[in-house]
Amino acid sequence: MTAPRTALITGITGQDGSYLTELLLSKGYAVHGVVRRASLFNTDRIDHLYVDPHQESRIHLHYGDLTDSGALRNLLEEVEPDELYNLGAQSHVRVSFDQPEYTADVVALGVLRVLEAVRGHQRRTGRQVKVYQAGSSEMFGSAKPRQTEATRFEPRSPYACAKVFAHYQCVNHRESYGLFIANGVLFNHESPRRGETFVTRKITRAATRIKLGLQEKLYLGNLDARRDWGFAGDYVEAMWRMLQADRPDDYVVATGESITIRAFLGLVFGALDLDWEALVEVDPRYFRPAEVDHLEGDSAKARRLLGWAPTTDVRALAKMMVESDLRLAERELVLKRSGHEEAPRGGYR
Ligand code: NAP
Ligand code: GDD
Repeated sequence: MTAPRTALITGITGQDGSYLTELLLSKGYAVHGVVRRASLFNTDRIDHLYVDPHQESRIHLHYGDLTDSGALRNLLEEVEPDELYNLGAQSHVRVSFDQPEYTADVVALGVLRVLEAVRGHQRRTGRQVKVYQAGSSEMFGSAKPRQTEATRFEPRSPYACAKVFAHYQCVNHRESYGLFIANGVLFNHESPRRGETFVTRKITRAATRIKLGLQEKLYLGNLDARRDWGFAGDYVEAMWRMLQADRPDDYVVATGESITIRAFLGLVFGALDLDWEALVEVDPRYFRPAEVDHLEGDSAKARRLLGWAPTTDVRALAKMMVESDLRLAERELVLKRSGHEEAPRGGYR
């Protein structure tokens, strides 16, 4: 019997990390994940997969951080992964304007630390570690749609600049040292597990809470931006396929359809029989110093070479998120009715 393959995931506690872990476990992998130390539990998205470490388990968690090269090197020696998925990031574009230096440290230098740890490990042991780098359509910035692998990067935020650095570091390590490194250039992808400060989830959370009388209004920023929104479950499948290809390459992953925030509001509030125009207000605090107006990807290369295709369009995605958040709001309502009202959720976001 061949030994199961081993994967190491940075960012395992995030949206994509949780879907990727499910996918890899279903394929028989042993999965190791890097978890940041936090003062509260931060493993909600993978708790349903985690088994008590005192029992036999194929998922293993380790403390670590992309700002800590020594910890990354030690993890590679300990885990000896066949595949490394680098998903860890300060991934919020608006926040990157407030924390540019930290964002660059994690998103740009963090990748360099991972690559150097992999290079050293490979040199010492002779074992190949295939690397997936979580690149972003945000790197295209103001470039005209539809964006492809050949489109020039025109980044518009500290986050995007850091991802561009990471992208080219990966290309450089691939070409200089012959490492197997694939850059995924993924367009926005969402799910019921999306962080609540990203616009789709902020909208589905608020609309369902408004529907049940738990909230009165929703405050948003720029409603005119267009995004190509897909389902995170589909996109982690593309990540895995990139590392199963014969040779490492760069791929755009997108649905090919984009809509505005306004149109997404229409889908979500419409599904709940609510009129969004009466319930949503624009608050300039959510504007960004520079905006990315229109992202719409052409994923023909991934479809042709990886056999990848999305299963979920933006309408099905909105429906899935509304149904999930409605259940969450119903639980909140039960708690409220039994006198366990939660503190109001902050306008800070
Ligand atoms: P996410 O939900 O924000 O998750 C980010 C993950 O990175 C979390 O596990 C987070 O840990 C971890 N992390 C943050 N800072 C770290 C650090 N210093 N060291 C180690 N880990 C750290 O993001 P996502 O949506 O799953 O996205 C996954 C990756 O794809 C990110 O690199 C993102 O930039 C990129 N991407 C996302 C999209 C998208 O639309 N979702 C599109 C293109 C690219 P905590 O849980 O402790 O915060
Ligand atoms: N977050 C947020 N909050 N965005 C808002 C709001 C609001 O209240 N109001 C309007 N928007 C607009 C933003 O200005 C942006 O144009 C659009 O909604 C999408 O914002 P986000 O959902 O925060 O996503 P993003 O496109 O900036 O970044 C996401 O996708 C990238 C891929 O293109 C993140 O997941 C990045 O990590 C990822 O790389």
